Amino acid sequence: MVAKRLVRTVVVKRVAISLLLLSGCHPVAERLPGLPTFTYQNDDSVSRFHEADALARLDADAESIGRLGMLYHAYQFHAEGRASYALARELAPNEYRWIYYAAMLEKTAFEYEAAESLFQRALEIRPDDPELWAELGDLYLMWARREEARTHLDRGLALEPVQPVAALGVARLLTLEQDWDGVIALITPLLERHPRLSKAHKFVGAAYGVLGDAELEAFHMEEGEYGSAVASDLMDELNELAVPAIIQGDPAPGPDLLQVKCARCHSHDRIYDHDQDRRWWARTVRRMQREAGWQWLTDDEAASVVAYLDERKRTD
Ligand code: HEC
Repeated sequence: MVAKRLVRTVVVKRVAISLLLLSGCHPVAERLPGLPTFTYQNDDSVSRFHEADALARLDADAESIGRLGMLYHAYQFHAEGRASYALARELAPNEYRWIYYAAMLEKTAFEYEAAESLFQRALEIRPDDPELWAELGDLYLMWARREEARTHLDRGLALEPVQPVAALGVARLLTLEQDWDGVIALITPLLERHPRLSKAHKFVGAAYGVLGDAELEAFHMEEGEYGSAVASDLMDELNELAVPAIIQGDPAPGPDLLQVKCARCHSHDRIYDHDQDRRWWARTVRRMQREAGWQWLTDDEAASVVAYLDERKRTD
């Protein structure tokens, strides 16, 4: 009896959805953001947006809408990402990912209040997640709320002694307090775990400098010029969505682009001296784009840099 009623409800729902689609006004799909103007993206990227948007309109469920939000987020379309996550959260209020991603997006957009309440909501779902405590503490640090920053970062470190975001945040506070031994004691074990973490090298390098150890200062400052950045598994998964679109490119403009674009931050050729595959280059160039912005480097330019750096290694 119950099963029958269920089947009937599902059938009625399906019919209702089809009718809504036919009349072109599914109430959820109607509230999705319109596709933005694509200025810096290539055809490959644009077609990914069209696909994800069409799927979100068709399925109109939290998963497809949340994934559309991730794609917007990965390309730094903040308004569209925000609107998609909000809708996904409405449809699935207890789904952690849409809360977490929305919090991370607001943090990048410097929307402190919005990010704070989203991180607090995420902590209700995962109260013992060291990364969440660290990210919220780091947000307070950006917000110049130092005491709250410290308690939240410490909580992150108590839950995971070398949580990278928490350790870097506390290192920043210790630097402000000029507690150089404290910085070294905190960052040394972090570097054992994450030996290429750029910011960690910069903190200890500065501390050694003040303490008068010029050799260690020079070593860490040099390491800090290159190296890697912190990323969580969930953020890696999101950032990966923008990678495939720059795997195929024309290597010819590569050398000029390196000169004009990349030399702004990297003067040393050593930075390009990596024996890695093309996907690694694409991920790295996307990371640089997230730092410097899409208007700095278009998708086509990014794909050229990736192709050139990858092929150069093999033709050396
Ligand atoms: C806005 C400054 C900036 C610009 C512009 C920039 N980079 Fe970077 N790059 C960084 C910083 C900071 C790091 C270290 C932290 C990190 O890896 O995120 C870095 C790290 C790197 C690394 C090392 C990654 C690793 O894991 O070893 C490579 C390779 C690199 N950049 C290549 C490039 C290329 C190629 C360009 C031009 C398309 C470029 N960068 C433009 C700031 C920049």
